[in-house]
Amino acid sequence: MSMGLEVSHLNKNFGGIKVARDISFDLKPGDRKALIGPNGAGKTTFANLITGTLKPNSGSIRLDGVDIVKLKESKRVKAGVAKTFQITTLFKRMSVRENIRLPILERDGKSHGWFGRAERFVAVEDEIDELLGQFNLLDFAEMPVQDLAYGQQRLVEMALTLALKPRILILDEPSAGVPSSDSHIIIDAIERLPKDLSVLIIEHDMKLVFKVASRIVVLVNGAILTEGTPEEISQNQQVRDLYLGARHEH
Ligand SMILES: Nc1ncnc2c1ncn2[C@@H]1O[C@H](COP(=O)(O)OP(=O)(O)OP(=O)(O)O)[C@@H](O)[C@H]1O
Ligand SMILES: [Mg+2]
Repeated sequence: MSMGLEVSHLNKNFGGIKVARDISFDLKPGDRKALIGPNGAGKTTFANLITGTLKPNSGSIRLDGVDIVKLKESKRVKAGVAKTFQITTLFKRMSVRENIRLPILERDGKSHGWFGRAERFVAVEDEIDELLGQFNLLDFAEMPVQDLAYGQQRLVEMALTLALKPRILILDEPSAGVPSSDSHIIIDAIERLPKDLSVLIIEHDMKLVFKVASRIVVLVNGAILTEGTPEEISQNQQVRDLYLGARHEH
């Protein structure tokens, strides 16, 4: 059985437009892969096909050898596939701590009755503190999310997602909106993610990509142009032409 995520011959059309063309891709435990490509290449669409937000027209998506393509999004989250929450879904007036508590309670369901409730309460708060520590957010725990710098809000999004204990984590433009002077905050956070987690990073910031990814997949017009190490990708003439010719707004 092959561990991790295995996508085979995935196709998706929006009306007559092909946005995923025969994509085959894998992500093993501990992998750090980046998905890059011009605006409109189909990167977010690909992420949404993996999470189940979108259904493909054909192809398979396997997690540890089991086809999950028919599972709806919430079932895929339970199976271990998660994409970072968007900033707009945070309860911005609630504290960082309260925000992180939500996915933990959601993950555990309502199976904890009165019995053992105090112990459970302590365990949840300990878990929140651990996540806060991991993302250097302990000092901001009781602050409303809206009072944090944007870079820190993105860390809260990552902490929320990690609270679901995923095995596959998709970060769609983790540094979008973050001033470049703060991008090291995001890079540090990615570097400190659990080692056995499989991480797919969709990103336009090449400094971040080259820092955190050990392999890079280049998507153009819904199809994989090439995949390789950062060195291979930086030397690939087709990729260079693509990036010299295109403007990137993110
Ligand atoms: N729900 C939709 N219905 C129709 N077309 C869509 C839909 N979502 C995306 N598209 C189109 O699919 C193509 C791929 O879009 P997608 O958002 O996946 O690109 P992207 O690589 O993530 O781009 P960016 O770098 O700008 O985020 C685009 O042409 C887009 O206009
Ligand atoms: Mg996108």
